[in-house]
Amino acid sequence: MSILVCGGAGYIGSHTAYELFKRGEDVIVVDSLITGHEKAVIGGKLYVGDIRDSEFMDKVFEENDIEAVIDFAAFSLVGESVGKPLDYYENNVYGTMCLLKKMVKYGVKKIVFSSTAATYGEPERVPIKEDDKTFPTNPYGETKLAVEKMLKWCDNAYGIKHVVLRYFNVAGADESGVIGEDHNPETHLIPLILQVPLGKRDFVEIYGDDYDTKDGTCVRDYIHVTDLADAHILALDKLRRDSSSAIYNLGNGEGFTVKEVVETARKVTGHPIPAKIAARRPGDPAKLVASSDKIINELGWNPKHNSLEEIIESAWKWHKSNPYGFGDK
Ligand code: UFG
Repeated sequence: MSILVCGGAGYIGSHTAYELFKRGEDVIVVDSLITGHEKAVIGGKLYVGDIRDSEFMDKVFEENDIEAVIDFAAFSLVGESVGKPLDYYENNVYGTMCLLKKMVKYGVKKIVFSSTAATYGEPERVPIKEDDKTFPTNPYGETKLAVEKMLKWCDNAYGIKHVVLRYFNVAGADESGVIGEDHNPETHLIPLILQVPLGKRDFVEIYGDDYDTKDGTCVRDYIHVTDLADAHILALDKLRRDSSSAIYNLGNGEGFTVKEVVETARKVTGHPIPAKIAARRPGDPAKLVASSDKIINELGWNPKHNSLEEIIESAWKWHKSNPYGFGDK
């Protein structure tokens, strides 16, 4: 039987599809290639199309014996979502609804869903635990939370079991250096910093240095993309084993300030990486740090690349050898 990876040509989806393939799973990737890259799909069979396209999805389900779905297919930029909420609702909420309808139609009962720390909004405490209050401060987080709720009711009505994974700040690249992060436009901190030593920008901007944190810059919890991919496989195994639904955070449990990230990138690249303080970015919480104890204790998740230096080194290796990413956009 096959694992259907929706959004499997994107950054996190392609790393997960590659780990599944290395483990000997039969991988089917569906991706619209709006933000994904054909070259990022290694080992899986790629169907290019949209999860909202009913005929296209019928073809995917009819041609393959799908055991479970891992769903990454979504827009995921916090800032963009504020300006285009309806695009986010259409792609993220309506899109996943279409996918779930196909799962009902074809009797597929397992889904691992890509969610986010943005479901929490401004946290009441850090590290954040899974049963803490969810109060998103942007449409992106709101659409992911809406799908989490849809999944709960689909479990109730149709017996579709889910594992929701709420990611914190994902970074780094596969150790092979063959796949990595390639967004256009790029908005994430680590790839933007690395554009300076690559000669693609002169300096990096630090969005605000007057937050209530140790050096005034925002604190985030960075997790290596391969450790995150491993967590998806553990989630799939859990659904195969005990067929019950669950929600897990995925982070390192350790927060780093923006200034610390820039400083670590200077060490890794040997480049001075000039930084300028700029205005705060709207919607940015001061501190987002995960408690990942639940997935460590329940599923035995064992992150292998949890030093910030190692995460940035792997990203640097990818960007140095692929300064234009996959070169297709
Ligand atoms: N930042 C800068 N300068 C930049 C870019 C970012 O100072 O040029 C700062 C941001 O203000 C923030 C931190 O670096 O404080 C991290 O920003 P990112 O854009 O890399 O990531 P976010 O924390 O905004 O969001 C990411 C994902 C979301 C997810 C969130 C959960 O993009 O999908 O992590 O923590 F919801």
